[in-house]
Amino acid sequence: MRKPNPMTLSTDSTEIMKFMKDLASEAGAIVASYFQGCFEVQSKDEDPTGIDIVTDADKASEHFIMNQLRRSFPNHDILTEETETEITGSRFLWIVDPLDGTVNFSHSYPHFGVSIGFMEDNIIKAGVVFDPIRQEMFWAYHCGGAFLNGDAISVTQGDNLYRSIVGTGFPYDKAKATVNNIKEFCQVTPKVQGIRRSGSAALDLAWVACGRLDGFWELKLKPWDFMAGMILAQEAGGKVTDRYGGSMELRSPSIVATNTFIHDDLLRILTLDD
Ligand code: IPD
Ligand code: CA
Ligand code: CA
Repeated sequence: MRKPNPMTLSTDSTEIMKFMKDLASEAGAIVASYFQGCFEVQSKDEDPTGIDIVTDADKASEHFIMNQLRRSFPNHDILTEETETEITGSRFLWIVDPLDGTVNFSHSYPHFGVSIGFMEDNIIKAGVVFDPIRQEMFWAYHCGGAFLNGDAISVTQGDNLYRSIVGTGFPYDKAKATVNNIKEFCQVTPKVQGIRRSGSAALDLAWVACGRLDGFWELKLKPWDFMAGMILAQEAGGKVTDRYGGSMELRSPSIVATNTFIHDDLLRILTLDD
């Protein structure tokens, strides 16, 4: 991969987007190669149920992405799912989910992606989400629009929640946690045309951006699950807030992303019993 010039990074959106798309594409190829072959699945240490897992593909994708980032931007910070990193306070922060949809992946369910976000001075500047099965590269740059491969994408226009299809997801600790989205799932289900649990929050957000979903919410995501997808949805004309309508931060646990028109209705239903 060609090394981008850190001096032009904050102003040259073309250069940074090319770097991010190449990075996600190569990481996606690594993930796809494991999907065709053999891989080990391990339970995460902190999860005695064995529900929360990591595979060789997560690790190999992360190893590749981190090496490329460290080589190209040695002074930037990186926040990534599978490796604890030191956050030094750099103005630049990379947020990486090397494989979003690990449970799908581990069951040969072909729906997962690689998600990479880039922040400058606490503002999300760029995001890519790559689906290596469909060969779909979703990408967006701050104030530059959102794209799927070579085409501009935008959210849907419908304003009727009853005719909407929305996505959601559940946290790994859903069996014992009180905030597990099951109450909210029951509240929303009768009010929408369709509800989907795809198993990849990053792709769900990308699918809001390109109009395959009218909305998406989840209550306990991590920054690597949503930061790249969030800018995709925003740049495609969508609205993204936390579950109470507040603005999103790096550490916001909840997210509601919609085509804008159904946003208030979805927020109201989500918070009915709060
Ligand atoms: C998970 C997926 C899933 C969402 C979970 C996430 P992972 O990420 O995005 O759709 O419901 O909350 O943890 O573990 O596959 O990277
Ligand atoms: Ca994830
Ligand atoms: Ca992951």
